[in-house]
Amino acid sequence: MDHVARHFVRSGRFSIDGLDLDGLLSKHCTPFYVYSASLIRAKYAALKEHFPAFDIFFSFKANPNLAIARMLLGLGASADVSSLGEIKGAFRVGFKPGDILFVGPAKTEEEVRYAIGNGIAAVIAESPEEIRMIDELAVKLNKPARVMLRINTLEKPTAAEIMVGGPSKFGIDEETAVESVRAIGLKHSEIVGVHSYAASQALDAEAVGAHVAYVADMALRLAGQIGFDLKCIDFGGGFGVPYGDEDQELDLARIALDADRARDKVLATFPGCRLAFEVGRYLTAEAGIFVARVLRTKASRGKEFILADGGMSQFSRPVFLNISHPVRLLNKIAEPVTGEFEVGGPVCTPLDVSAHAVPLPRPQVGDTIGFFNAGAYGYSMSMSNFMSLGWPAEIMADDGYLSVIRKAHPAEDFFVDQPLK
Ligand SMILES: Cc1ncc(COP(=O)(O)O)c(C=O)c1O
Repeated sequence: MDHVARHFVRSGRFSIDGLDLDGLLSKHCTPFYVYSASLIRAKYAALKEHFPAFDIFFSFKANPNLAIARMLLGLGASADVSSLGEIKGAFRVGFKPGDILFVGPAKTEEEVRYAIGNGIAAVIAESPEEIRMIDELAVKLNKPARVMLRINTLEKPTAAEIMVGGPSKFGIDEETAVESVRAIGLKHSEIVGVHSYAASQALDAEAVGAHVAYVADMALRLAGQIGFDLKCIDFGGGFGVPYGDEDQELDLARIALDADRARDKVLATFPGCRLAFEVGRYLTAEAGIFVARVLRTKASRGKEFILADGGMSQFSRPVFLNISHPVRLLNKIAEPVTGEFEVGGPVCTPLDVSAHAVPLPRPQVGDTIGFFNAGAYGYSMSMSNFMSLGWPAEIMADDGYLSVIRKAHPAEDFFVDQPLK
């Protein structure tokens, strides 16, 4: 059974956390994003079941909605943030400073000052230059900074989006790390750990496990050679989810074999060391659906088109990253397929066709169309003002209730209509 059928079909009808389609549409205008709270909880529980010794840092960038962050905080998550906005979001929902890690390749002084000033767990430095900048700010603020070293390892991962192994804007090159870090005379900062994020959307559990083993060994070596007390290792993660039929579920039990070994090895030398994964997509992707309404159907030169009231302006991933998300007609979710359809939105560019040759039942005007696996890098990577379509709402479904967790914004919300000086 596929992901959509398993989680969103009950008795042959669309259902999300105890709500049917009528319940969903009676209160909200399309297009919108809707999330399943139970699925986010289940994903967090799966991570904790397999990695009980690891802290799960929720990567805000995957879905910075504060209601989702607050839910994960309530379950025990920590926060992985990458901008001032995300740090402030983490504080707003109540993450403790000691449970926030700040990573990102081009941090501003303002961001670092705010992070140090508010005593977050560590600023993860991505270059020797950045370590110097953090230390200088720590001196100016007269507040000691905790620094972790992001390492651009010599690994060659095989996932969709790779961040190590070659020349990279991320991290300090592994082969020069000892020399370059030793050359920095830190005045008011302490190196407390090592970080390495190898790749995103990784589905090969053996490769993820190998990364965990690699980072544990490297962190122990760097701590010895540079000379610091290893208080935290952030192994990254990049845990992927299946988007298409050809993708396998990520085998967490297989990763846990390496994670357990890494834990034993690290804790034998540094018993207090905090072990971390930072996870975005795995927690939220499958919980989210981008929902739109069919406005028009048409045939053109042998192809059948469905035109909906939402598309690439509000949900950009399929177009800009060329990723096929599962698409279904929600009001006909169990009906037999009658043909293949192109699914386009209202924007005046041929780019705005988000799904190609999708097998669906016969569509009609007024049908509701859902793009699944839209809960990570959906809202957060989209939103353009192209054609003044406005921004859609985000809604959480939880145990039969719906909550608006981000308001829709019509285009007028962004108008600045004043004469020039
Ligand atoms: C440094 C870092 N941490 C965490 C993440 C979140 O990754 P994912 O959503 O694949 O879990 C990313 C994503 O690009 C990242 O670059």
